[in-house]
Amino acid sequence: MKIIRRYPIAFALLAAIAISLPSTAIAVEGEKIYRKCKACHDLEAGKHKIGPSLAGVVGRQAGTAEGFTKYKGLTDADWTWTELELMAYLEDPTSYTKAKTGIPSSMTLKLKKEEERKAVIDYLKNQ
Ligand code: HEC
Repeated sequence: MKIIRRYPIAFALLAAIAISLPSTAIAVEGEKIYRKCKACHDLEAGKHKIGPSLAGVVGRQAGTAEGFTKYKGLTDADWTWTELELMAYLEDPTSYTKAKTGIPSSMTLKLKKEEERKAVIDYLKNQ
């Protein structure tokens, strides 16, 4: 196409925008799902509600949000929140911590849909 040869940079830019669109869509979706979490969680570090702040939670050791004193199932957790662990926890927090620490989690919300869990984890990665 003549137009590509004439405006290669503009074309490359357009292609880059087109490629980056799907991940933007996931982030937006994740933000929407995060609304379900807002009642109990804040994204500001050190700001806790019923649940601990989720600032920087992906990659952080479980049960260690500074200043949060109401951990139940996550008390003495000895693992790191990888995407894999989060996928399992969010599907069924109560059974998950019961199996790992012996104490059912006090987080009652379950995200049954795999794509919702993926989207919200993706969103949390950037917080
Ligand atoms: C009804 C309140 C409530 C809702 C809604 C809720 N959570 Fe929680 N969450 C908690 C509580 C309480 C804990 C601490 C659990 C424990 O120690 O057993 C927790 C813990 C967590 C942790 C572990 C934090 C850490 O410091 O180790 C993650 C991650 C998490 N929640 C993610 C989410 C996500 C994502 C959502 C929305 C899809 C959500 N939560 C919705 C109450 C809630």
